Amino acid sequence: MPKSLRYAVLGAAPVAALLVPGGPATATVAASPDISVTNTKAHLDQFQSIATSNGGNRSTGRPGYRASADWVKAKLDAAGYTTTLQQFSTSAGTSYNVIAEWPHGDANHVVMAGSHLDSVSSGPGINDNGSGSAGVLEVALAYAAGGQTPKNRLRFGFWGAEELGLVGSKYYVNNLSAAERDKVELYLNFDMIASPNPGYFVYDDNPAGDGARDDLVAYFTGKGVQTEYIDVQGRSDHAAFRSLGIPTAGTFSGAEGIKSSSQATKWGGSAGQAFDPCYHRSCDTISNLDLTSLDRQIDAIGHMIWSYAQKDYGSTQPPAGDNLILNPGFESGAVNWTGTSGPITNNTGRPARTGTWKLWLQGNGRSTTENVGQSVAIPASAAAASLSFWIRIDTSETTGTTAYDTVKVQVVDGSTTTTLGTLSNLNKSTSYVQKTFDLTQYKGKTVTVKFVGQEDSSLQTSFVIDDTALTTS
Ligand code: PHE
Ligand code: ZN
Ligand code: ZN
Ligand code: CA
Repeated sequence: MPKSLRYAVLGAAPVAALLVPGGPATATVAASPDISVTNTKAHLDQFQSIATSNGGNRSTGRPGYRASADWVKAKLDAAGYTTTLQQFSTSAGTSYNVIAEWPHGDANHVVMAGSHLDSVSSGPGINDNGSGSAGVLEVALAYAAGGQTPKNRLRFGFWGAEELGLVGSKYYVNNLSAAERDKVELYLNFDMIASPNPGYFVYDDNPAGDGARDDLVAYFTGKGVQTEYIDVQGRSDHAAFRSLGIPTAGTFSGAEGIKSSSQATKWGGSAGQAFDPCYHRSCDTISNLDLTSLDRQIDAIGHMIWSYAQKDYGSTQPPAGDNLILNPGFESGAVNWTGTSGPITNNTGRPARTGTWKLWLQGNGRSTTENVGQSVAIPASAAAASLSFWIRIDTSETTGTTAYDTVKVQVVDGSTTTTLGTLSNLNKSTSYVQKTFDLTQYKGKTVTVKFVGQEDSSLQTSFVIDDTALTTS
């Protein structure tokens, strides 16, 4: 769905607001760590040794590329990422993208960073683009090591065949469904970040990416490093994302371009010489790096990932009438429900109302309690909200006036638990009946709706619940 057709977006706040000291507890962002230049340099040593043992390059269709991809993937796998080796073909043979996703955070809001992992065939490609790949890799590993659960979903892409015409990143984007594309909130690209005669360029080629561009500039300015904009156009892997309207940004320390004297004044290095004299040459080796540039750039990547991981992209509000309970008829088993394991069952001892699965609380004639619940966000925009479910109650208790065995319908709102209603052996009904409770007072809150069964020491009562719904109007 195009962003313009999304449900009303609530609570969108600029990242800067999340960084205000003493702001609300829900809006704190862990300061990004100092990304280790030692570790990043070690990844570059690895790329150099892969090239050295594979004919001096890491180029598409050659063994040095596949070895680079396998090595990066293994590092990310070991750190807990969900990784994919995405194969595609190019004019020069088979290539691969390595995609790594941190499997936490809201999958509806994906923040991506990427770099091309291939070199040209004439050299090992250590600055172009071992540098960007080592930096993105180290940031991904550092994020994982922090054991964090971001608000958003983080995804890292290591592209194949950039040097053959941005083939890998185009392939990736073209193979995303429309729904998946729409979830990508930002793509950050890092292609050449440790040029030996470095500049500090920030991509400026798409209005949608201006916010991220400004954040990068502000980050460098805060570190006393002046930046210049560069209109990268189609020269690197953000192009495929940009052409879909996805906000993109990135940094670049320069390639074949010549450093001017004013640039040498602000950045040091040699005026009148290329930012990277070994660009696309065999001398783009482990000696072809400026480690100060690398160090600053990887910290900038870390800063962007840490802050965009927590950016509030707003919540998508379901339209009135949608059932907000997931797996409402229990047909996926215990998926989306929490509590006592066991009562969500397809045991045929009691009939489901629909399908085969249901929530069968109690029924063993012993003193036990069981509970099953689900957390639900009730939109503030709702006029009214109600919880309904169908319940079948059979019992061996003799008819009378005593509620020996009970099921409570509860709402947990923070530390407050409210019982909406209690059903018992006195409500025996072997045909399913529907019960409805008003939840309007909980609009704008995330609450847990909960069923708590309790049985006394003898004579079973079975509370069988199916087809739950929490709907708003
Ligand atoms: N994409 C170019 C390459 O890999 C390098 C580059 C990056 C050029 C960013 C301009 C801007 O050769
Ligand atoms: Zn290149
Ligand atoms: Zn490159
Ligand atoms: Ca069912």
